[in-house]
Parts: sequence; structure tokens; C-alpha cells
Amino acid sequence: QETTSKTLLINADLIDVVKGKLVKNQAIAIENGKITFVGNASKAPDGDWETLDMAGATLLPGLSDSHVHLTSNASDHGYRRLTISTPRAAINGVANAKKTLLAGFTSVRNLGAPGYADIALKDSIEDGIVIGPRIIASGPSLGITGGHCDSNLLPFEYQNKAEGVADGPWAVRAKVRQNNKYGAEVIKFCGTGGVLSKGTKLGAQQFTFEEMAAIVDEAHLLGLKVAVHAHGSDGIATALKAGVDSVEHASMITDEDIQVAIEQGTYLSMDIYVSDFILSEGEAAGILEESLEKERKVGRLQRERFQAAVKAGAKMAFGTDGGVYSHGLNARQFAKMVEWGMTPMQAIQASTIGNATLFGTETNTGSIEVGKFADIVAVSANPLTDVSELEDIDFVMKDGVVYKNTITQ
Ligand code: ARG
Repeated sequence: QETTSKTLLINADLIDVVKGKLVKNQAIAIENGKITFVGNASKAPDGDWETLDMAGATLLPGLSDSHVHLTSNASDHGYRRLTISTPRAAINGVANAKKTLLAGFTSVRNLGAPGYADIALKDSIEDGIVIGPRIIASGPSLGITGGHCDSNLLPFEYQNKAEGVADGPWAVRAKVRQNNKYGAEVIKFCGTGGVLSKGTKLGAQQFTFEEMAAIVDEAHLLGLKVAVHAHGSDGIATALKAGVDSVEHASMITDEDIQVAIEQGTYLSMDIYVSDFILSEGEAAGILEESLEKERKVGRLQRERFQAAVKAGAKMAFGTDGGVYSHGLNARQFAKMVEWGMTPMQAIQASTIGNATLFGTETNTGSIEVGKFADIVAVSANPLTDVSELEDIDFVMKDGVVYKNTITQ
């Protein structure tokens, strides 16, 4: 890890995600963490630069994942989850944040964590105590009693309940206010059952319209965006009506609701890689049989609905549910997105400028442009030809600091 205040990247082929094309032989100047010049090498500014020759590499904006759980490990599913304390979750987060950054993901949205461990992690990264991506964190996810965002593993006498559980419009408003108080920058709630929770149905809506509308209204009053976990079509339709900013999973979204999402500008954050992990390694990782059974029903369907949404032109985020599978493997989803209907450029745009726009950080991140933070990654081959190249990132810069570099020696 080297800190330089003036860095010049030369001989760079870069992916312009705003114009949607590859631009050859560029120079990029970085001063105090920000991009101050992008253009033809002949016009690069003079002065005393630390120069990095990027010949042969393809540069792109730092990647982004709109749905991760940095405080969770892929080895701790089902009943094993009960053995993970909040301090342990925070320590997991430290290790996972580093893995995520070194995989080229310079910004993530963390959607659900215990005890505000995600906020502590974010603050520690910002203070330079540990390394990791920029984080937009939700704190505990909101959910109904017995819903996907509750903890349903133990019998009644244990009185076990997840932190974000609330029933009723005013109770959910109070939870939004509490998350805001402790540093959340996005509100996550569960609008249907889920795969990995015990006793919940994918198709069953959770929260009434009144409750969803209260969550969204309160969050928007406070200037926070809202992400809903929703697989079934009723929950998706109701959450869209309530005005959420992104639908996570969106597995059974109807054609009609794809149109509603398009009209409202709602992002779809469809985690179409993780099914492969759940069905191959899930059992060994402690995932309950009933969850494996739900995944067998929903995995392929979600990919088909992803394809339909892409074809219709919906705004697609790049969200993977990292933490269900191992952190650092986020980029495996690129090849899935291309297999199911995106061009490599569209998949890269989703993970860069698309996510930045969903996060509301597009003036600072999401593209390699003058004035933005110097969050830049590179691969030794062109990912527009083979998007799976992004699974092996060779260069990672965040805020102008190089964290990984196997391109220039
Ligand atoms: N956290 C999600 C849930 O439990 C994971 C869903 C994974 N499956 C999928 N096909 N995307 O519902």
C-alpha cells in the first residue's frame, strides 16, 4: 500500500462507462485522491508525477456491489448463525472488507447487519484504521415478526427476535428514525419471505402497504433511500407502489411490474450468481434443507426474470448478496449477467455508473472523470471481450491510494 499525492497513469486503455466505449492510449492524473485529468497523453499536465505505465491493461472505474453483508461469512448459515456474536460479526467485517476491496470493489451497499457493526466498519475504513471499500450501510434490516428479517430459529421460550423487527406504521417509522440516528444511509426492509430464513414463504408479502408506505415516507423525509428484499410478485408490486428505490432479488417480478419499475426509475438489484453457491456448497455451509428446496424453485426463475427485465430496459443494479457466498468472489456475477442477456458493457455499467446513481454518489464515483474520486481498477485483458476477466483484478486504486498492483513492477 503506497500513498502518493500526485500519480499519473499512462498508456491506459480505459472503459468510458458514460459513453459506453473503450478509449485507447489515455493518461489519467490523480491529485490528492481525485482525478484531475483524463485525456490524450500528449495533453497530460507537466510536473513531478509518480508515473505508472498501464500498457496492455484495461482500466475501468472501481466496481461496486449494491447488496452485500460484509459482517457475514459464507460458512455460517442456518443454526451456525446463532453462534456469531455482534463483536465477531464486526471482526468478520474487517476481513471481508479487505477481500472485497482487493477484488476490485471500491464501493458497496451493506444491506443488513447486527448491532450497527456495519456502521462501525464503515467509520473505521473512513478513519483509515482498516482497509475496505466505501460503504453505504443500512444497520439492522426492518421486518415483521416472524418474517425473513426476523430470527426464527429458536422456540418461543427463548424470546429471540432480530433488532429490526417492528409491526405497524408508527413502529416501523421509529425503526427508520433509530437507524438514521446511528448512521444508516439507506433503509433495508423485508417485503416478502426469503430463501435462507426458516419458515417463510417466498411468495408471501411481509408488511402491509400501509407499513411499507410509512417506511418509505419516513426514510425519504430523512433523505435516505430504501431497498426492499422481495422475491414474490405481491410484495414486489406493493413495495413499488410504496415508492422504494430498489428491489433486491426481484425474483418473481411480473412483466407489468418491470414496466412500473421503468416508469418510476426504480432499480432492480438481482443477485443471479448466488444460486450456484447455495445449490452446490450450501448444505455443507449449514443451509437448512427447506432453504435449499426454496432455492431449487426460485434460482432459475430469477434468472429468467432478470433476462426479461434487461430486455425491457429496466435500470439494473449490480447486487450479489455477498456474504451468502464468500466475499471477494462478487465478480463471478458478471458472467452470469452476460449469460442472461446483458452485454459486457451493460454489466460493467450496472456495477459502476449504475450503482453510483442508485447510491446517489454519482457526482463522486462510478466513472473515470475529472473531479471524481480516484477509484480505478485494471485487468490485464479486455473485459469487454471476456467479462470473466473481472474475476481476476490486477490493479486496485481507491481514493488515489494503490492497494494492489500486479501490472507495473
Ligand atoms: N438472502 C436471500 C434470501 O434468503 C438469498 C436469495 C438467494 N437466491 C437467489 N436466487 N437469489 O432470500
